[in-house]
Amino acid sequence: MRIKYSQQNFPGGITIIHTEYMSRALSLARNGLGRTSPNPMVGCVIVKDGQIIGTGWHHKCGNPHAEIEAINDAHSRGHDVRGSTVYVTLEPCSHYGKTPPCANRLVAEWVGHVVTAMRDPNPKVNGRGISILREAGITVTELEGEITESAKFLNKGFVFVHKYGRPFVSLKAAMSLDGRMNLANGSSKWITGLEARTEAHRMRAENDAVLVGVGTVLADDPELTVRLVDGVNPMRVILDSRLRTPPSAKVIGTDGKCIILTAENSDRQQKKALEDSGAKVEEVPSSGGHVDLFQALRTLAGLGVLTLMAEGGPEVLSAFLREGLADYMRIFTASAKIFGEGRGLDVGAGFRDVKAAFTLTGARTLILGGDIMTEGRLSCSPGL
Ligand SMILES: NC(=O)c1ccc[n+]([C@@H]2O[C@H](COP(=O)([O-])OP(=O)(O)OC[C@H]3O[C@@H](n4cnc5c(N)ncnc54)[C@H](OP(=O)(O)O)[C@@H]3O)[C@@H](O)[C@H]2O)c1
Repeated sequence: MRIKYSQQNFPGGITIIHTEYMSRALSLARNGLGRTSPNPMVGCVIVKDGQIIGTGWHHKCGNPHAEIEAINDAHSRGHDVRGSTVYVTLEPCSHYGKTPPCANRLVAEWVGHVVTAMRDPNPKVNGRGISILREAGITVTELEGEITESAKFLNKGFVFVHKYGRPFVSLKAAMSLDGRMNLANGSSKWITGLEARTEAHRMRAENDAVLVGVGTVLADDPELTVRLVDGVNPMRVILDSRLRTPPSAKVIGTDGKCIILTAENSDRQQKKALEDSGAKVEEVPSSGGHVDLFQALRTLAGLGVLTLMAEGGPEVLSAFLREGLADYMRIFTASAKIFGEGRGLDVGAGFRDVKAAFTLTGARTLILGGDIMTEGRLSCSPGL
């Protein structure tokens, strides 16, 4: 496997070469999407004499890390990795977790050079993997700029949990052209068409958990599973301060992946009925009469959730925005439906100038059948 650039063709173009190989490693890392949490997605490419001799990625939590997969791949093709350059999207780990430290293995394999796209934000590693390599005489290049931003965005949930103690939160809403999420009688099925709903199911499969408030469970009895595309079902989370979720609710399912987050001192009988029907019930501190959102997010981080998609309804999505706990937004707008009544987002932000409003950075729009999806990073989100 040869890539199109070589150092000889590009005098002084070593950065281009690094970027090319690292981009390949990043696309390998993406193969783990939806399967690696609470671990990050990581990809690795091993290069020797201008040739890729091994590739690998972290398939799922508990499986070997990307570097080990790539070393094994190189060995299985009869290559010797001594003196090679290893491109890895995240700093190699330095601690014993479910697998031994990758930094030590790279030293034991006598690789010559390690190129990384970002440091590991996990305080158990954060620079230690790089120190182990350098102390063993291995050259380490830490890339910066756009490629680092891409690596961080790929693992945004992992970065957020270590930096802010909570998952990366995406909000998803379907709306009529005049911004209503339901009709006055509470009906919201189906605001958007099949293409938009298929995209929403793909997004579910990419997140560790999806979340709704109990209002949506009572109004729609949703399943919140992945049905229109292939993919793993995320954890299903209900914010329900007073345990109003019926034990017969479809969202509870039979796979043990439904979690109800409720206020402390919840009703014992209702808790038992919900647990008997297959839900897990976790008590979290409340504020303002509801489950506290930040505490709910911390609880989910503790359960291994790195990425969360909040799917509604209007009260819960507005609360995430109001409390500045939303990082990304996807709005599906039905381009040909005007409801003229019903509820929309009501954040109570009190902006007096449109310049002060929430904005989406890096926004893009997609036409999905008769609907339009707009998505981007929310201005209230802290940095990666
Ligand atoms: N168009 C869409 O994308 C979409 C998506 C979903 C739903 N919907 C529609 O939305 C309607 C339901 O709206 P909704 O606003 O009642 O539903 P919701 O936002 O799903 O649920 C609201 C409930 O969540 C509970 N909750 C718990 N902790 C909370 C917190 N920290 N902040 C805010 N709420 C918290 C509250 O009850 P407790 O405090 O008692 O727990 C609250 O009444 C239905 O008509 C449904 O069809 C539309």
